[in-house]
Amino acid sequence: MIKRTSIDAVIEAAKIEEVVGDYLRLKRRGANLMGNCPFHNEKTPSFVVSPAKNIYKCFGCGKAGHPIQFVMDHDNISFPDAIRQLAAKYRITLEEIEQTDEAKSEALRLDSLYLINQFTAEYYEKQMWDTDYGRSIGLQYIKERGFREDVIRKFKIGYAPAGRTQLLEACKAQKYALELVQSLGLSSKDGNRDFFQDRLIFPIQQTNGKYIAFAGRKMGKNDNSPKYINSPETEVYHKSKVLYGLNLAQQAIRKLDLVYIVEGYTDVMALHQAGVENVVATSGTSLTQDHIKILKRHTKRIHFIFDGDAAGIKAALRGMDMVLSQDVDLKMILLPEGEDPDSFSKSKSDEELHLFLKDQAKDFILFKTDLLLKETANDPLQKAEMVKSLVESIAKIPDPIKRAVYIQQCSLLTHVDEAILVGETNKAVQKDIYVERKARSLEQEQDSFYPDETPDGEREVKASSPISRDEYQEKDLVRMLLTHNQKRLDPDEPLTVGQYIADNIKDVVEFIQNEQCKWIVKQYTQENQEKVLDLDYFIYEGTDEVKQFVIDLMTSPYEYSENWEIKKESFLQSQPKPEENQVNDAKQALYRFKAKKIGYLIDLNKLKIQEAIDNNQKEDLTVAIKVQQKLFDMRNEMLQDLGTVVIG
Ligand code: CTP
Ligand code: MN
Repeated sequence: MIKRTSIDAVIEAAKIEEVVGDYLRLKRRGANLMGNCPFHNEKTPSFVVSPAKNIYKCFGCGKAGHPIQFVMDHDNISFPDAIRQLAAKYRITLEEIEQTDEAKSEALRLDSLYLINQFTAEYYEKQMWDTDYGRSIGLQYIKERGFREDVIRKFKIGYAPAGRTQLLEACKAQKYALELVQSLGLSSKDGNRDFFQDRLIFPIQQTNGKYIAFAGRKMGKNDNSPKYINSPETEVYHKSKVLYGLNLAQQAIRKLDLVYIVEGYTDVMALHQAGVENVVATSGTSLTQDHIKILKRHTKRIHFIFDGDAAGIKAALRGMDMVLSQDVDLKMILLPEGEDPDSFSKSKSDEELHLFLKDQAKDFILFKTDLLLKETANDPLQKAEMVKSLVESIAKIPDPIKRAVYIQQCSLLTHVDEAILVGETNKAVQKDIYVERKARSLEQEQDSFYPDETPDGEREVKASSPISRDEYQEKDLVRMLLTHNQKRLDPDEPLTVGQYIADNIKDVVEFIQNEQCKWIVKQYTQENQEKVLDLDYFIYEGTDEVKQFVIDLMTSPYEYSENWEIKKESFLQSQPKPEENQVNDAKQALYRFKAKKIGYLIDLNKLKIQEAIDNNQKEDLTVAIKVQQKLFDMRNEMLQDLGTVVIG
């Protein structure tokens, strides 16, 4: 392992323009440099390098990051490898951490597991191509299904022989520890027999090519064993985080900025054979959040291809709300009845297939609307069910602007009044937030002033607490923290802008809606902060989402909330630009943010008061009124503190 100090030395030395300059031709444009983006196809440059911020960002495909990130993405290598590469460039000698014996033996064990899997994959492949039975059973079968030799080789398809201990014998001959073979799921539980017998083998590889698992398809029809058997979860195989075919697809996914998801191993192969390489499948499990997160590192455009039968259509709706919540561009492609991607691609020319995939991709919400409309008679009850199901999906979309557009379209398609859809969607959004918040507050005990019970979303929620607009205030505040954290609020006092905001915000942090904003603000509110929480810190220490978020924030033009927009005329003309006026601006951002959050709490509490009145619960009412008083006090106190500040 590389020492942290060495890593920091490389980070310190790596200049974005020099690192990117090794790969691309850059032209100067004002303070920045521009070039053709290496991550997607383009003729006019939209790839910007900012020496001042030491970051790059493509305004075409959205790829962005720090110098190390660029090398990782461009060369498709890990963080440590990118550090090694840049260390060589800048002639920095890396110091390595001596591993403990325990860590060493752990690493050795993992190495051995990968090695055994590699041996096994090669063994099965040899069995298929180089033995008589392999050729006549395994190869014959897969060729009969119409697969070409080059595709069979590309996917390293193999054959597990019918004998009971053939792989075990081969491993013994290699002197592999049979305990390890067993822990990889390659032998039976008692370790005495091969797990895969007389099956066609699909090896599963990591994106770096390492073999981590296998799936075996039976070829005969006359036994009633399952069609596929799969490796179990092991130390090197975590199904919920692995996508079949990603190792072969990642470059095409990035080039085309699009990924297709299909159901089966053979579907992935068939599409490759037809020239469609940006395709993956889950391996014998349902799709997880982690799968989507992994794909999002490559592209936000995700198109599902579904079999055109009843089960396929059902599957098309199931689980998709989870995908929507990840803020991706989700489309659905339904195949004609009775077809799966394998059969369909073989019945069409490559050209026809390409056209079909392009033409048939339907936006998920519209796809769902169409589907439900077909099933819904003019019966009001059914229609209500449909609307409920639609708004539940729309509510999952994090981007409020996208939500608004979908609502409009759905209203047109379903002839349901737009205002009703807006109201219902807001309710569903609120409900999701409550559910999430409740789950979280169960996890972490918080002592705070606000009511610890939340309404359950079934109740009428006032339209005056629109979730969407908080986004402005939250982003404002984070932008402020990022740019002015270190500056002093007052030249004569040690208090910095960062500390000032952090001190004033603790009680409402949990109400920040944007996950990235919340994570970032929380870093500032932590006690005994030693790190300098600047742009670099978040670009290096944040998750992929946080990185992307701060880069987007710092490279997009300043946004104002609607109220702010109106004030801007009079305010901005007489004031320095926000970037130059950190004191007033920090207070502004903080005020607008807190006012928003406290207003939100007041709205929530009003519901409680109403409920207590409705149900004649005197004690609840007393508590709720006290809380309300407290909230008003807070708001007034803040007003006084901030004195001169314009109300946003
Ligand atoms: N699957 C599984 N176990 C089974 C059946 C299916 O793990 N008993 C998983 C496999 O990942 C399979 C996917 O579900 O690839 C889709 O199943 P299916 O459509 O039945 O198989 P295909 O991949 O289409 O395989 P084939 O074309 O060989 O029938
Ligand atoms: Mn299938």
